[in-house]
Amino acid sequence: MAGFEIFSAHLDALDGESRRRKLSPIAGHDFASNDYLGLSRSADMRAILTDAVARDVPHGSGGSRLLRGNHAEHEALEEFAAEYYGNEAALYFASGYAANSALFSTLPQKSDIVLYDERIHASVHEGMRLSRAQGQSVQHNDVQAFSDAIAVYRGAGGLGRIWLAVESLYSMDGDRAPLPELAALARIHDAMLVIDEAHATGVFGEGGRGLSHALLDRENLVVLRTCGKALGAEGGLLCLPAILRDFMVNRARGFIFSTAPSPLMAALAHGAIRYVEANPQLTQRLHALVAHAELRLGRYCPDTRRGSQIFPVIIGDNDRTMNIANALQADGFDVRGIRPPTVAPGTARLRISISLNVDMDKVDALADRLDILLGNDATQGSHV
Ligand SMILES: Cc1ncc(COP(=O)(O)O)c(C=O)c1O
Repeated sequence: MAGFEIFSAHLDALDGESRRRKLSPIAGHDFASNDYLGLSRSADMRAILTDAVARDVPHGSGGSRLLRGNHAEHEALEEFAAEYYGNEAALYFASGYAANSALFSTLPQKSDIVLYDERIHASVHEGMRLSRAQGQSVQHNDVQAFSDAIAVYRGAGGLGRIWLAVESLYSMDGDRAPLPELAALARIHDAMLVIDEAHATGVFGEGGRGLSHALLDRENLVVLRTCGKALGAEGGLLCLPAILRDFMVNRARGFIFSTAPSPLMAALAHGAIRYVEANPQLTQRLHALVAHAELRLGRYCPDTRRGSQIFPVIIGDNDRTMNIANALQADGFDVRGIRPPTVAPGTARLRISISLNVDMDKVDALADRLDILLGNDATQGSHV
């Protein structure tokens, strides 16, 4: 169509770099989803939803939480989540992306600085774009680099609050942030520590409480827990001090000027947190499967990911990555290639995620195929 040349040129350029994305139907064995506990289609979760429907919980909220959209199910979820995760308060958003975007565009103030890990999720960048605070990327998982950045900010006369932003388990690398050291750094500098637990919620920590739950000092902590990954529902829960929740309710534009999430989803997310607690065998089974996958796939991944359900096989070249992913898909394994800008240039990879949607036989079958495709030439911890 005339006038759309700029868009087609952009797409052509993406094509030229093997970076053009396409939507495709779901097919093959699931090595791609974040449905780590297999709850997104479980009959028990469906029963939670059916029960909520039978209780006349509405499917539509009908408005913003500050107008007529504030349903008892939202409040029940938030009260329960705050208590369960050991935070003073919680605030529910329609997605983790919306929650992160609202958080970073609202809480850090003009004179503040946000020091974020260079591999932090796009939703944090989105919030930072809308934020009045200054933002600075810090070398991945490098506590000393965070400390140095604080020193530079204070040395230059920065008087505002310092916000440190990390993921507890990095979505594309499967490695963990050094949370105790970062918490200690935050304590020393009276900084806020923001931890994105999107990929750890429901998977790690007692009752799926995540990796940050071991941190005892919660006063300077804001934690994002998403409900659409291991919990098999939808939404994002910001768990934070009550005063900050109140501030978000008054100031977060993404909260104020948006229709509240479906009350049915709030009921489902609530039920899912309880369900994971009541069924510890789920996380045990997942960790057993991950341990098995470790034996077969671990050699293709960087050492730093040990123990997590995310197995990044770094190929480097975009084309080669997509060719291998396509070959695996043709064989019935849903493995996706991840390219820049989602990951750094030159680090295109297969992101293999292990979930209860597959079993040991499927993991073995995938590993056998991968051994052939990679020519069996991978050495432990190196890029292939
Ligand atoms: C680290 C991280 N944070 C936040 C999000 C956004 O959460 P949601 O998918 O619920 O929007 C994602 C989703 O991929 C994520 O990986």
